[in-house]
Amino acid sequence: MTALRQHLFHLINWVSRTFFASRLSYAHIQAFLFNNSFKKLFNLLRVHWDIRRGNEMVESRPYIFVFEVTNVCNLKCPFCLTGKGISGGREVRHMSFEESKKIIDAVADYTYLLQLYTWGEPLLNKDIIRIIEYAKQKNMYVMLSTNATAMTPDYNEKLLASGIDYVTVAIDGGSDETYEKYRVGGNYTKVLANVRDMLERRNAAKRSHPFVEWQFIVFRHNEHEAKSTENMAYAMGIDKFTPLPAYVEDEAWLPQSKEYRKTEVFNPERLRNCDRPWSHLNIRADGGVASCCFEFFKKDDFGNLGDNDFDEIWNNAFFRESRRLISQFDRSGGQSMDDSTLICHGCLKSGIRPSYVEKPEPPLGGKPKKKVIPLVENR
Ligand SMILES: C[S@@+](CC[C@H](N)C(=O)[O-])C[C@H]1O[C@@H](n2cnc3c(N)ncnc32)[C@H](O)[C@@H]1O
Ligand code: SF4
Repeated sequence: MTALRQHLFHLINWVSRTFFASRLSYAHIQAFLFNNSFKKLFNLLRVHWDIRRGNEMVESRPYIFVFEVTNVCNLKCPFCLTGKGISGGREVRHMSFEESKKIIDAVADYTYLLQLYTWGEPLLNKDIIRIIEYAKQKNMYVMLSTNATAMTPDYNEKLLASGIDYVTVAIDGGSDETYEKYRVGGNYTKVLANVRDMLERRNAAKRSHPFVEWQFIVFRHNEHEAKSTENMAYAMGIDKFTPLPAYVEDEAWLPQSKEYRKTEVFNPERLRNCDRPWSHLNIRADGGVASCCFEFFKKDDFGNLGDNDFDEIWNNAFFRESRRLISQFDRSGGQSMDDSTLICHGCLKSGIRPSYVEKPEPPLGGKPKKKVIPLVENR
């Protein structure tokens, strides 16, 4: 059974990577099947109609909501901007329940999937359980990624009862020594016990949710443990194990095995299919409305919920410009678009995700000026 499940997820990952540029996951499929409505379906079709037409002004609404409920973190992962203590010019804070409720209400009728993190550790927000419960009442598929440090038995009980659909636990190692090299400030034995506890409680309560994914970022120092950890994870009842290619800033951290070094940041082909300013809403912990989850710096925001409502922002000059640039870029086969200072311009032109290089501006079709070592898949 375990081996069958393992093969099934390898197959789903392969299909998703090959045919959907890694943008269709188990969570997307589940959200579509179990959190649907006529209104959502009609909106989904309208979004894709708008993308196809390159419409700048839209009446459709985003169907995926990426909500950073906090940008606070308790670990110091060396290649994470938050782990490095960089705020991006933002206030470092938690979103309150009241703030969250307001924005969930604005998009709930259209949103299939709510992702409760971008940067920061979501479980440190003391309102997160209420936020999940509220989103579940509103028929959203709710998921998050956590470093699993805050999952005490008591907390796990509340998390399970909240109705959360999908939890990714980010544990990059199969021993104290390897884990703690990247997850600085974390303790492997403790996070492993936390995850075991959650699985045991879930199974004892005969719940099928949350679906629990173990995400293992593969570096040089832990690549030798990837396979044995995968086997151990499936044996302990994890639903899916994902070895994730690492973004690193120092080549010495890159794994040697080709298997774990396959994606690349510089990939204009993939960027030609960007549809995020139509399909995704990205809200940061300070209320900033970001272009996408790759945007980190406040200076690049398209608006702020503290100043305007969602409806005023969704078709503002920034969103319209981003949609125009993307359509021009797509229609010209990646050869031309208007000049612009918008973050999307640098992203499309260079093919480099903006969170990793602040100003990527090589000539169109050229190589990036700044060397960027692999990669991060869509997150
Ligand atoms: C910035 S974290 C925020 C959520 C949470 N704190 C966590 O670590 O899961 C978002 C995602 O980035 C991943 N991540 C962190 N460092 C990374 C790296 N160097 N390469 C690839 N992914 C990374 C994390 O594992 C996580 O899934
Ligand atoms: S736990 Fe997550 S948010 Fe915190 S430093 Fe590590 S990757 Fe960044």
